[in-house]
Amino acid sequence: MTRTPTRLAVLAAVAVAARRATATSGTDGIDARDLTGRTAVVTGAGSGIGRAVARLLAERGAALHLADRDAPAVEAVAAAVRAAGGTAVAHVLDVADAQAVGRLADEVFAAGPVDLLFNNAGIGHAGAVADTTLDDWRRLVDVNLMGVVHGVHAFLPRLLAQGRPAHVVNTASVAGLVPGPGLVPYSTTKAAVVGLSEGLDVELAGTGVRVSALCPGVIDTDIIRTSTMRGEWAQRQAHTAEVYARRGTSPDVVARAALDAVTRGRTIVPTPRYQVVPPWLLKRLLPAASRAVMATVVRRVSRG
Ligand SMILES: NC(=O)c1ccc[n+]([C@@H]2O[C@H](COP(=O)([O-])OP(=O)(O)OC[C@H]3O[C@@H](n4cnc5c(N)ncnc54)[C@H](O)[C@@H]3O)[C@@H](O)[C@H]2O)c1
Repeated sequence: MTRTPTRLAVLAAVAVAARRATATSGTDGIDARDLTGRTAVVTGAGSGIGRAVARLLAERGAALHLADRDAPAVEAVAAAVRAAGGTAVAHVLDVADAQAVGRLADEVFAAGPVDLLFNNAGIGHAGAVADTTLDDWRRLVDVNLMGVVHGVHAFLPRLLAQGRPAHVVNTASVAGLVPGPGLVPYSTTKAAVVGLSEGLDVELAGTGVRVSALCPGVIDTDIIRTSTMRGEWAQRQAHTAEVYARRGTSPDVVARAALDAVTRGRTIVPTPRYQVVPPWLLKRLLPAASRAVMATVVRRVSRG
């Protein structure tokens, strides 16, 4: 055997061992195929991925606490869940506000234990770093990173104190796994969410609380319409939104992947896999080729 295959074999064995070490069997963690009697909290539940996660959780029997800064949107989702026979309370807050997220945790735990927390609220941004303002950077970090930190900070001590399995799912992005031009500020926040989730899952080993980073690709939601776009990206916003609507994957697929990851105890959750796994693998195996491919892919999505 030459040295390269030996190294590959060793790497593969380490990867398999690491996967086994970090994956919980369905019986140790939460089996999200049936959530009767469970309670779940979802931020950013008024639209897109958060709304799809909320609907699926309700279909599977969970009682819901849904949070969003858009009051009519989150109240409509909660009302639809209740109309279908489920249980849902709407909470209006900005996840960038640590005290508001703390109050959410107080209200939710006052009603009973929490099994699932989806730190999902997030905003988009596209533009060259040279065109990105400091206010843009601060808002992205405050919502996409600190919003997740606030959720973890407010809920984790009480999740641990409950003495029963719980699962935290933080919404990151393919952009947190593979950087691309025009997405640097957004990628910075999402890579941080991946790091937070992976590190925390290792830190919590043996506690019964698991953590996953949900890494969606191009998903058909409102995110492009509401994103901040700078420089030449601003002129392409309508076109990019149209590409997301035409080619994007349904948020229902992401919701199913998120709950499947809970059941299987997966830490990194690429979804849909056909979109996210190839660029992620390419970056790890052939970083130079990955840069060229990502530049081409991002140009195609934004310019057609
Ligand atoms: N759509 C995609 O292609 C895609 C891909 C990868 C990751 N994501 C991530 O998925 C998550 C959900 O995005 P989406 O695509 O469903 O977008 P969306 O715009 O359809 O939904 C986001 C929801 O979050 C809410 N929200 C935004 N900022 C908030 C804040 N500060 N406090 C409370 N609520 C807030 C919005 O009001 C909205 O209801 C985000 O974290 C996003 O970065 C989306």
